Parts: sequence; structure tokens; C-alpha cells
Amino acid sequence: MKRRIYVSPSILSADFLRLGEEIKSIEANGADYLHFDVMDGHFVPNISFGLPVLKNVKGSHGLVNDVHIMISNPKFYAERFVKTGADILTFHLEACESEQEVREIIDIIHQNGAKAGLSIKPKTDVKDCLKYLDQLDLLLVMSVEPGFGGQAFMPSALEKIRVLRDYIDSHKLNCLIEVDGGINQETGDLCKEAGVDILVAGSYLFGVADQKERIEGLKK
Ligand code: DX5
Ligand code: ZN
Repeated sequence: MKRRIYVSPSILSADFLRLGEEIKSIEANGADYLHFDVMDGHFVPNISFGLPVLKNVKGSHGLVNDVHIMISNPKFYAERFVKTGADILTFHLEACESEQEVREIIDIIHQNGAKAGLSIKPKTDVKDCLKYLDQLDLLLVMSVEPGFGGQAFMPSALEKIRVLRDYIDSHKLNCLIEVDGGINQETGDLCKEAGVDILVAGSYLFGVADQKERIEGLKK
């Protein structure tokens, strides 16, 4: 059975002076989600953008707002990100102090009407997230160390995707698998073979003349 593949362009790589146009372009060229990378300069060594930008972005397009918060203390901000426009809010397992906190944040996201995602960094063992999959709508496997666009894909992500695909299918769960970092046609194909559902891509999709063909290629 052929799985449908979704593409979620990461606007971290967009031209912020033309953000509205950039979003219209990816929407017209076949994107399904808009990947919104929030970085706090503490959980990751970079600072990107936050709630005021999300407020403007939300409602300016018909894509799913796929918000990836690479921040410390996600529990404190979860409700505000959902209320400001996140359709999916994905936080980091490594930013949580306990299993209880992970579950509390998932509940906060659901109670505010959004889908809950959990992300794991390259060094985190995929086994550490399996127990949450029955509550999650999305599991984001980082194939780069979070913090920057334009990094090289880390093949260690492929085995994690295979383990997740197996577990989700054998337990008949509805959790989508997303991969993020260094995705292009070649690495995207490897991730699709491994069982991914959603491909995040930033530098591969922004500032290029063949954006439509590239998005179509990733979805094939
Ligand atoms: C990295 C971000 C990724 C990044 C992807 O911390 O989470 O979404 O923007 O950018 P590329 O596709 O250029 O690796
Ligand atoms: Zn991201």
C-alpha cells in the first residue's frame, strides 16, 4: 500500500523580507504543511522567531501550521502557541524533565484543540519515545542537530524511522512520522523507503527556481 507523502517547507530558510510571498509560493507549488521553526537561543544555539510572526502567518495561507518549538520550558508556552495559531505543536523530549511533564504538555495541546507532536534529537534513543506514541499525532525525527538550516543529513535517522514505522503499524496507531534536517530528493527518498509520512525541507526548497518540481519530487 503506497503511503501518501506530505511536504512541510521550513520557513527558517525563507527570505523574511518577502515572507508572505514565499508562503504563497510554496502553497501554490504543492506544499501541504508550513514548518515553523521556533528557536530560543537556549535549548538550541540559535534564535529565530516566535509568537508575533506566527500570529501574522496564521490565516495568511491554507496550509497546516506545523510548529516546531526548539525551546526550553515548552510547558510554559504550549497553550500560547496553540492559541496563536499552531495546528500541530511539536516540542522536544529533551526539553522535558519527566515522563509526567511530557504527558501534561500533550494534554495541554489537545485540550486547546491542536495536534501534539514530539521531537527527538539525533543523540536521543528512539526507544525513549515509543511509550508516548499512542497519545501523539506526530513524531518528529531530527536528522540534523537542531538549530540551523542547511546542515548535512544524518543517516542514523533512517533506523529510527524504521523502528517507528514498525511500532506504529504493529500497534495500529495513528501517529505520523516526520523527518527534519538535510532533506533533498536523495535523502527524502531514503526516508520514504524507511517509512516516513512528512518531509520537512528548508534550504532545498527556498531560493530555488524549480521549487514546484522539487516539492513534487519529494511527494512522489
Ligand atoms: C533545524 C530545523 C529544521 C531546518 C531544516 O533545527 O528544525 O527544520 O530548518 O532546514 P534544512 O532543510 O535546510 O536542513
Ligand atoms: Zn524544524
